[in-house]
Amino acid sequence: MILSVTPDKKLNGSCCVPGDKSISHRAALIGSMAEGKTVIHNFSKGADCYRTLQCLKALGVEIQQEDGKICIFGRGLNGFCEPDDLLDAGNSGTTMRLLLGLLAGQDFFSVITGDPSLRRRPMGRVIDPLVKMGAEISARCDNTLPPICIRGTNTVHPIEYILPIPSAQVKSAILLAGMNAKGQTTVIQRLPSRDHTERMLQYFGAALTIKDNVICLQGKRPIKGQQLQIPGDISSAAFIMAAAVLVPGSEVLIRDVGINPTRTGILDVLKMMGAQIDVLEQRSWNGEPVADLLIRSSKLKGTEIKNPLLPRVLDEIPVLAVAAAAAEGETVISDAAELRVKETDRLKAVASELCKMNVEIKEKADGLIIRGGKLRAARVNSWGDHRMAMALAVAGLIADGETIVEDAGCIDISFPAFLDVMKALGAAIRAEN
Ligand code: S3P
Repeated sequence: MILSVTPDKKLNGSCCVPGDKSISHRAALIGSMAEGKTVIHNFSKGADCYRTLQCLKALGVEIQQEDGKICIFGRGLNGFCEPDDLLDAGNSGTTMRLLLGLLAGQDFFSVITGDPSLRRRPMGRVIDPLVKMGAEISARCDNTLPPICIRGTNTVHPIEYILPIPSAQVKSAILLAGMNAKGQTTVIQRLPSRDHTERMLQYFGAALTIKDNVICLQGKRPIKGQQLQIPGDISSAAFIMAAAVLVPGSEVLIRDVGINPTRTGILDVLKMMGAQIDVLEQRSWNGEPVADLLIRSSKLKGTEIKNPLLPRVLDEIPVLAVAAAAAEGETVISDAAELRVKETDRLKAVASELCKMNVEIKEKADGLIIRGGKLRAARVNSWGDHRMAMALAVAGLIADGETIVEDAGCIDISFPAFLDVMKALGAAIRAEN
């Protein structure tokens, strides 16, 4: 699929975004490890979360999908069944890494693989701690790349682990394995990453405590099925927020967005750049803060994005690079080397595609330097990465003619309704096959 995007149509009105991808994965995984029924409303419709559901079904979990809600009949902490075929995580790093944590506590053999992009992504970061916890794991390329074979154990060893990188996926894999460990698993994080696993385990009744940067979990304590309402995904809202800020004359209300402080770096950065964003009607859904966001178009100025902010804005760098390309002055992004091992090398991909749009952009080892100016319409490519495709569509809204975004079908990974939502707000975006 290609997208054709033309500028000059202001965005107005209100919309919702899909259920948060990170929280949806966790609701399905933790619900499966609980006893009894878990009912999840507003579960993400993206292909990544569907992969998690498919893998769980292959492990013997009964899952019913009915009018916008999902019912999961939990198997308890280690009541899963050995799958009789490969588990396929598709494009989803979260499915693969978190599922490995769950599998570390199951006394059977399984093999997990993914699409060509996922088979290039580093897995040593989860394999190392899970092997320390007693799982037998082997993988391609010196135990670093998928496919991954795992034989778990129902006598997982609790460990104390200092996270070498601020990765929520690594932290979550250890905690899910720790649910089956006899004793206390401790995870120490130098920089906080998204904390949805901690919040959800607590919501399900797990014995998890957090003090400063130390997370402690007592394992072998059963948890009970719950009712959950998934907040809108702030990482999907980010594309609409950026579009509304950048296209002159726009005013958009995005309802029911998750505003967990470990994820709201996008609000902080856009505000630092001069955006007008109001956070309205704050409330809480199953331990996660939620609000409506009112965004008005604004003139932006360049800024600096680096630690400790970076982990809070990790997935939003492609769209922030577009905002920086239209801002006055220079934006410097640092401490972002992790972006090189996402669905694609996002630093290289952003630099290459925005360069085609006449943006003055320089790649550094751990970030980007972007000088704002006028964007020229061009034929650009998503590199098969959903966040790249949507960021480039936003760039097309402020370029000087028709922008074509090639290979845009990957948008379905996280936000299948992106085009419909953008069109309903007034954007001139068309899909062609
Ligand atoms: C995610 C964690 C982040 C993020 C990814 C989703 C999660 O990855 O980039 O999109 O749901 O835990 P890392 O843990 O690799 O930083």
